[in-house]
Order: sequence, then C-alpha cells, then structure tokens
Amino acid sequence: MTILNTFRVPALLLQSLAGIILIASVISCVGPMRGHVGTADDIQYAAKLWSVLESERMVGAHAKTLKPFIGAARPHGWVLEVESRMVQLGEHRGFVVVKKNYRGNHISVADVEKNRAKYLNSISVMFKREAGYDPEDKNWFWVQYKPDGQLFTMRKMGMKIAMAGKIMKGASPDKNSGCIYCHSSAGGGDYIFYPDITLP
Ligand code: HEC
Repeated sequence: MTILNTFRVPALLLQSLAGIILIASVISCVGPMRGHVGTADDIQYAAKLWSVLESERMVGAHAKTLKPFIGAARPHGWVLEVESRMVQLGEHRGFVVVKKNYRGNHISVADVEKNRAKYLNSISVMFKREAGYDPEDKNWFWVQYKPDGQLFTMRKMGMKIAMAGKIMKGASPDKNSGCIYCHSSAGGGDYIFYPDITLP
C-alpha cells in the first residue's frame, strides 16, 4: 500500500460514515415533521377543498364579493374579508372559515373594493375535518392559498414544504407560519379568533 492509500482508505471510510450519520439524523428530524404537514395527502386534500370553495363561490374568479374591513393584525393582511359556513367535501361535511388577505401600500377598504384582484395576497383557510384527523388541535385542516389556488410554501431545514395540513404542530413562535401554535391561543378554545364566528 502506498502512503496515499493508507491515508485514503480511512478517510473514505470516515466520509461515508459521516454521510450515513448525517442522512440518518436528517431523516430522524425531518421524517416526523414531513409526516405532519404538507404531505402528498394534504396537497391533494387542499386541491379538493379549493374546488369545493370555488363552486361555493367563496374563492376564485367568480367569488362573491363581501364587505372588506381593516384587520391589520399580524401575520394576516391589512384589509380582510372573512366568510364561514358548512361545506361538503366528498363524504364529509365540515365548517370552513375562508379569510382573504389584501395587501398593498396604505390601502383602504375602498381601494380593495375597486380592484380586489390587484390587492389579494393570500387566502387563509381553516376547515374542520372528520373526527380523528387531529384530535389534539380540534381537527382543523390549515391552508394558505395563493389567489389562484396554488399553495404557499415555507422553508424548513432547507426544504420547501407546502402550506397545507397540520401547520405546524408544536412549532416555536419565531416563525409566523405556525397557524396551530398561534390559533391555539384564541379565546373560546376552538382556535377561532373572531368572536362572531361560531360553529354550528
Ligand atoms: C401569529 C399569530 C397567527 C398565525 C401564525 C396565524 N394566524 Fe390566523 N389569525 C390570527 C389572528 C390574530 C386572527 C384574527 C385577526 C385577523 O384576521 O387578522 C386570525 C384569523 C384567522 C382566520 C379567521 C378565523 C379566526 O380565527 O378568527 C383564519 C381562517 C386564519 N386566521 C387562518 C390561518 C392560517 C391558515 C394560518 C397559517 C398558515 C394562520 N391563520 C396563522 C393569528 C394568526
């Protein structure tokens, strides 16, 4: 064995060992997290929910217009529209809250009423799913849609994760994407902030 080889063999061995450890630790951290949010099922479910909301004329190009109001709370929009009611998705009938977030520099309610499409920034949705979906957090399904129904994504450990599903369980308050984390502090115990929105 040349000197080069004596050095190379352990180095290679170490490298691959380090590689295995790295991969194993990434899988163990990300695995459960991936299982919680933005899964293939979540993405599919969010797409179905969008088409239900479209046909209910709650979102999309033919959405009924509501009366916008100034919300101004973080992390949601400045001007908002909120609507809630029961909708049917497949076999399941559930309560949905749809919130349209309008953004722009110093926008007023009148600006939004004149041109909703221009200022619509995102649509935050909570949909009450079947019992057992997420019993610890009242079975809400959370989604952050773009105006065209695509999903927003967030970055976690260098990965892009679709914002649909249980966002984010047990997450820290630092990231403003933890719908569950923040909404669990809403009064009344059903994760809804607006006191006038009541479940049937
Ligand atoms: C940092 C706290 C916080 C986070 C994170 C948060 N929200 Fe909210 N959310 C609020 C507050 C406060 C309100 C009421 C005021 C408003 O609408 O801005 C609200 C209102 C809502 C409503 C209207 C129903 C209600 O609770 O009154 C929906 C729907 C909603 N949020 C969805 C979401 C979704 C989906 C996410 C994650 C993508 C999310 N929220 C993340 C604080 C938060």
